[in-house]
Amino acid sequence: MSRITLSRYLIEQTRSHNTPADLRFLIEVVARACKAISHAVSKGALDDVLGSMGTENVQGEVQKKLDVMSNEILLEANEWGGHLAGMASEEMDQAYQIPGRYPKGAYLLVFDPLDGSSNIDVNVSVGTIFSVLRCPDRNGATGDLGEEAFLQPGTKQVAAGYAIYGPQTMLLLTLGNGVKGFTLDRELGSFVLTHDDIKVPETTQEFAVNMSNQRHWEAPVQRYVNELLAGESGPLEKNYNMRWIASMVADVHRILTRGGVFMYPRDGRDPAMPGKLRLMYEANPMSFIIEQAGGAATNGTQRILDIQPTSLHQRVPVFLGSKEEVERVTAYHQE
Ligand code: AHG
Ligand code: MN
Ligand code: MN
Repeated sequence: MSRITLSRYLIEQTRSHNTPADLRFLIEVVARACKAISHAVSKGALDDVLGSMGTENVQGEVQKKLDVMSNEILLEANEWGGHLAGMASEEMDQAYQIPGRYPKGAYLLVFDPLDGSSNIDVNVSVGTIFSVLRCPDRNGATGDLGEEAFLQPGTKQVAAGYAIYGPQTMLLLTLGNGVKGFTLDRELGSFVLTHDDIKVPETTQEFAVNMSNQRHWEAPVQRYVNELLAGESGPLEKNYNMRWIASMVADVHRILTRGGVFMYPRDGRDPAMPGKLRLMYEANPMSFIIEQAGGAATNGTQRILDIQPTSLHQRVPVFLGSKEEVERVTAYHQE
């Protein structure tokens, strides 16, 4: 049986869905960068890649060596190919300009180079999340690309995906017509299609949330989580199991595999920080994937993909996964 590699899948998409050649090339390059990151992550202490850099990113978070390395791998892989007009990343304050010596292209690439940083040093799954947007017409402007170009709602994404560096390295991808899962075959050096047409079950008995923040949540989330915990004898009349890996890629990957609801709610500690997760490179790409797999994603009051972003590193509350549960917790916010 011949295997369908990522490259072959992308070529077939060009034929069946008119996927432009430059978008196909972009995805290929991102996938190649993810292979390099997977390799770096797997070396761990052997290559002295664990631990911190002693620096902070724009969000005031300590940067791990692998955060910085992964960011550089993605920038270097993508800057020269002529398919991008600019990039933005969790690890960079401002938009990254394509160096003048290279051609520029039609797309914008936004990424979380290494998601789940707190898990790097303890050998638990981490990943890379990415989102692809079209660069708006700049009316002939030639200067630096500003942050405004990136501030498009998630509905404008033309592709999104993530790589998970776990027991297997996998790449999950949507081009807007379903979700495909590829597993890295290290002997072949290729991502091979292993999960065709991924679907999130509509109902579930599993939830994911960091319970240590419970006392800071708003009333609708308190009510919902209390109902989940009440189990069979509560209003939901079934028992729920809980999982929290603290790498969004790994929690979302589990939900894509066997269902569940993932929450990172707003909490009352810092009004300037409405949630922890970032809209542009965490919530939007994951919401696009989840919706394409038949699930739902909201910030409690609104579909995440409809949010008009106001800044590159903006944070949002996130509720995503199995439709029934996301709709329930969203309805509680409206009551
Ligand atoms: P990052 O490592 O890119 O900063 O993202 C970490 C995020 C996300 O992956 C995860 O769901 C969440 O932080 C975990 O947060 P807690 O440590 O507060 O549970
Ligand atoms: Mn992250
Ligand atoms: Mn990160």
